[in-house]
Amino acid sequence: MKGVILAGGLGTRLLPMTRVTNKHLLPVYDRPMICYPIQQLVTSGIEDILVVTGGDSAGDFLKLLGNGEAFRLKSLSYAYQDGEGGIAQALSLARDFSAGEPLVVLLGDNVFQDSISEAIELYSQGGGAMILLKEVDDPERFGVAVLESGRLVEIVEKPETPPSRFAVTGCYFFDFRVFEIIDGLEPSSRGELEITDVNNRYIEWGEMRHHVLNGWWTDAGTIPSLFRASELVGEDRDNPVLNGISMGPDDWSRHASE
Ligand code: DAU
Repeated sequence: MKGVILAGGLGTRLLPMTRVTNKHLLPVYDRPMICYPIQQLVTSGIEDILVVTGGDSAGDFLKLLGNGEAFRLKSLSYAYQDGEGGIAQALSLARDFSAGEPLVVLLGDNVFQDSISEAIELYSQGGGAMILLKEVDDPERFGVAVLESGRLVEIVEKPETPPSRFAVTGCYFFDFRVFEIIDGLEPSSRGELEITDVNNRYIEWGEMRHHVLNGWWTDAGTIPSLFRASELVGEDRDNPVLNGISMGPDDWSRHASE
């Protein structure tokens, strides 16, 4: 399975910081935000990763991450999203990279406490699509699962009145048909191709599974959640998913001089 990290978008909820850099290069505790989804995929055994980014700071991702050697990756590729056409549009840029293989997709501003290796294993036993849910206190900020007797029947994007407390986290598993679905999408009222529309199509087909997370999960796309993400990571220093790849000054200077 290959991994895709979506790190485009304008990051307007983090202005003024994002006036001068990309959201995913801002620090979460002791390293740039983009390092967390990379570490998550690496520690879960994914060896080929595509980072989709955009905006004026795209070159800084290359400067930071290089060819992925510091993360012991087999390959690290990049794609550039023009503008902010939505999460599904960013994902459409991964079509050639996927080459028909299933994908695990992480949103670049999501931090997960636990390894997703168990979810990768679960997904591998079936096909179609799979999402990870987490019970939260503020579901209205996210895509929210409509569950009927434990069965996932729909996802509603940022509902005023949430149908449950189960947020759809930014970790998705898709087979190659995801690209056919994206081709047929129409932009939403906010002018974006929505990942929730993609997920609802798999639900209609009866080919969506879901898994509920135990460990904490947070996004880091707003000022309070960025602050919270740093606190959570800082409280969990022995966790290899968050801190397993040494990012000490020695490692980075050696990497930079190679
Ligand atoms: O964090 C989980 C939530 O992420 C889900 O519950 C929602 O269903 C999903 O729509 C998304 O909601 P957000 O409004 O928080 O998404 P946001 O616009 O902040 O984008 C999340 C990441 O996706 C961002 O860090 C980078 C990537 N992205 C986003 C857009 C709009 C792109 O790569 N390109 C884009 O055009």
